[in-house]
Amino acid sequence: MVSPDFGSSPNWGRSLISVESVEELAKTNPQQVPDRYVKIDEERPEIFESPIDLFDTEKNNTVIDMSKIAQAQHRDEEIRKMAKACEEWGFFQVVNHGIPHSLIDTVKRIGKEFFQLPLEKKQSYSLRPGDLQGYGQTFVVSENQKLDWGNLLGLIMYPSELRDLNFWPTEPAGFRETVYAYNTEIKKLAGQLLALIAESLHLQPDFFEKKFGNAYQKMRMNYYPPCVSPDLVLGLSAHADMVALTLLLQDDEVPGLQIHKDDQWRSVKPIPYALVINTGNMMEVMTNGRYKSIVHRAVTNKEKARLSIGVFYAPGFTEKIGPAPELIDDNHPSLFRKFIHQDYMQDYYTRGTKGKSSFYEFASI
Ligand code: OGA
Ligand code: NI
Repeated sequence: MVSPDFGSSPNWGRSLISVESVEELAKTNPQQVPDRYVKIDEERPEIFESPIDLFDTEKNNTVIDMSKIAQAQHRDEEIRKMAKACEEWGFFQVVNHGIPHSLIDTVKRIGKEFFQLPLEKKQSYSLRPGDLQGYGQTFVVSENQKLDWGNLLGLIMYPSELRDLNFWPTEPAGFRETVYAYNTEIKKLAGQLLALIAESLHLQPDFFEKKFGNAYQKMRMNYYPPCVSPDLVLGLSAHADMVALTLLLQDDEVPGLQIHKDDQWRSVKPIPYALVINTGNMMEVMTNGRYKSIVHRAVTNKEKARLSIGVFYAPGFTEKIGPAPELIDDNHPSLFRKFIHQDYMQDYYTRGTKGKSSFYEFASI
């Protein structure tokens, strides 16, 4: 495998391997959450149990229908809706995106089956310290930090030189083919969304494609086993996605994604087969703050395991990132400095997830 040139730090990623598998914990000690997973008071989540307490994105005009984008009489209105969602939320959901439902069903099934394999099998794909792909937990940056109630499998898809089949499970049957097919569909959709985002900002449709160069695409399957005390733990701590665009398949049956806006956490009501789209930190930089990156987290469920599948799409490692000159003027001075993408990635992985504060510390002027 070719190693990317991430600079001189030998500790890129800095995740420790000594972290226990949460699937095993949930099995062996189901009545008690070990102290290392119990969040401090301020970070403990509110669990929205009742469906009426879920945040209905349809009512909030943040559902984009790709089939309408294809119709001349609806296109402009749909793009305006998307622009407003990106400005106000940094978040929207996409329906009628063209990815076959059968493929979505299969990728979710094989994802769940992978995490249900015996530990030894999963451990043969373990994330190594400093690496970006494999099975385990990322963002474990210190021995005494509180841990999240979940495990993940991360796989880099692009640049294809970094696609390392040693980390691609051979079980369950069909895993590799399905993940490849799904990521091919997602790459297409990401390209379409980026062209629409460019259009919504009156930029050339290929603006992002050109700026991204040798684009980075990584898939992460997140698996959150049931937890006896969902009010004490987080499946995934509050963070903003580091990339330009995240395309996330939620679990249709088990809500768990919470987004933060106006000082309030809201649990996103799943829409079957929809993809949740976040405009990430790199999009916030490139649009000079016009489109926001939203802080979000995942909570756990008392009875049911939850799987989500995120695909993260970003510029190539060596690309220079900065606000689009077209979006800077006297009324909109540049909010961000220019930097090399991999320098930011390294900073993000090294400091761990702290909402958005470390992003602003790194990128703001
Ligand atoms: C992520 C993420 C949320 C979820 O993977 O970055 O925010 O619902 N996941 O699992
Ligand atoms: Ni995220």
